[in-house]
Amino acid sequence: MALREILIVPDPRLKKECAAVTEVNDEIRQLLDDMLETMYAAPGIGLAAPQIGVMKRVVVMDVSDEKDKPEPLKLINPEIIWESEELAVYQEGCLSIPDQYADVERPAEVGMRYMDENGKEHEIEADGLLATCIQHEIDHLDGVLFTDYLSALKRNMIIKKVQKLQKTKKSA
Ligand code: NI
Repeated sequence: MALREILIVPDPRLKKECAAVTEVNDEIRQLLDDMLETMYAAPGIGLAAPQIGVMKRVVVMDVSDEKDKPEPLKLINPEIIWESEELAVYQEGCLSIPDQYADVERPAEVGMRYMDENGKEHEIEADGLLATCIQHEIDHLDGVLFTDYLSALKRNMIIKKVQKLQKTKKSA
């Protein structure tokens, strides 16, 4: 396994649509393992392939709250198949937008279809943090960031803050 570099806004690759995976092979399984390792090291609860510059519909997640009992999810070509009318607000963050958080309203429950690392198809229902995380990560595959749900003013403020923080980091 290997740690991959996480892209930070405003990297243009974070705004692009990703291609579906056509064959689940060792290369994809290696990618999933690298993404999980990178996500846990960050640390984060979700990571989409475009965040490490791989433009494929691949996502990893772990929303378990006990860190000694990991519940990794490896998702290939994940898609939302239904969503509830009821909405929920969560304060979201993103490894590509470090140290910035904002409230985002999304459907409270969703159904998701995906393939696992063996190419087997699954359908799950999710609510709570998992539902939010699923929607946030699938958005990444379509070049959508949580800041796209905010006003332009707020979005630009967040991007400026991130750029400032990155500069301080580099010169430190
Ligand atoms: Ni994110």
